[in-house]
Amino acid sequence: MKILVTGGAGFIGGNFVRLMLSEYADIEIINLDALTYAGNLESLSDLEGNPRHTFIRGDIASMEDVEKVFSGHAFDAVINFAAESHVDRSLHMGVSHFIETNIKGTQLLLDAARQHGVPRFVQISTDEVYGSLGPQGRFSESSPVAPNNPYAATKAGADFLVRAACRSHKLDAVITRCSNNYGPFQFPEKMIPLMISNILEDKPLPVYGDGMQVRDWIYVEDHCRAVDAVLRRGKTGEVYNIGGLYDVPNIEVVKLLLKLLEKPESLIRYVEDRPGHDRRYAMDAEKIQKELGWKPRVKFEEGIRKTIDWYLANREWLSHVRSGNYMAYYDRMYGKRKAAAG
Ligand code: NAD
Ligand code: DAU
Repeated sequence: MKILVTGGAGFIGGNFVRLMLSEYADIEIINLDALTYAGNLESLSDLEGNPRHTFIRGDIASMEDVEKVFSGHAFDAVINFAAESHVDRSLHMGVSHFIETNIKGTQLLLDAARQHGVPRFVQISTDEVYGSLGPQGRFSESSPVAPNNPYAATKAGADFLVRAACRSHKLDAVITRCSNNYGPFQFPEKMIPLMISNILEDKPLPVYGDGMQVRDWIYVEDHCRAVDAVLRRGKTGEVYNIGGLYDVPNIEVVKLLLKLLEKPESLIRYVEDRPGHDRRYAMDAEKIQKELGWKPRVKFEEGIRKTIDWYLANREWLSHVRSGNYMAYYDRMYGKRKAAAG
């Protein structure tokens, strides 16, 4: 099986690539990633020299880059993880990159998959497309799509394009919508790794608003296993919700991290809230459990300990992504190769 994974130098895509290569001896992965600030080849260094993994630096929003990749390989599936993924950036640093990658990039991949007859397309979406829940209930696949921030709006737009390609052009496509992931290799702008790295440096922990916003946390490997189940057994045209079944207020997560790292709660700082901050996410993941036999394996208490241990053991990775040094790593690894090809 030869699959195109986009965004495979990012947090979830990288974990997915590693899991697939270790679980299946017959899988070959072409990993297309633009290496934005969030993409990091250092996260894939253990895969160097693996003949079943090929990294290609390229932009899913460039027709030329996409066409080059599709004309060079016959894919059995495309899995689109590539995205601008951070809500705060979409609120404070402009939306154009989000539109380019999340919307235009998705459409270019859909077009290429159709033109090249790729038999399966998996779009990695998010629970954020459903907007915010009140105090009761959970999101099901039939909840209205009602995004509240620019990132979520672009992901919802991509979902509609995937649906349209499936309905109009009979592309075999499936959509997954997962809740908040945590685990190794997550960029430290997202809440859990940001709090861990600040705690390690005794820096203040910025908690937005009253800290009572609820997120449904899932260990990244569980999300990756769910994507694998959808890739292999998901029904064409369907949406599958994925969740960790652990929904708690942010402040509880922050206090737990402080406890596990033996640091005082006096590090907590309540700061100005995120504009339009979604109050509560919680997933009803019954459909994927019943139809595809997937369920989360890692309990939050176990996953968070593993995550903390990983960040403690990988302080160099953390300082590199924080300083942007990984671009030097990229030049070291690929600079020569680029020159030879050019
Ligand atoms: P990430 O920001 O860590 O990684 C995104 C990757 O995409 C990076 O490697 C980046 O270089 C690459 N990329 C960005 N623009 C690109 C482009 N134009 N062309 C090619 N590559 C490009 O994101 P993540 O947290 O790993 O999220 C992966 C996917 O999962 C996203 O689609 C996101 O919407 C979705 N998702 C994330 C979560 C979460 O909790 N992190 C939850 C549900 C869904
Ligand atoms: O729900 C899935 C989504 O989860 C994904 O689609 C997104 O790609 C991913 O970034 C994530 O979005 P969130 O906005 O929920 O994640 P983030 O880690 O940015 O924030 C989690 C919660 O913590 C949220 O309620 C905001 C809050 N927060 C976040 C940061 C960065 C803080 O209180 N302080 C912070 O410094």
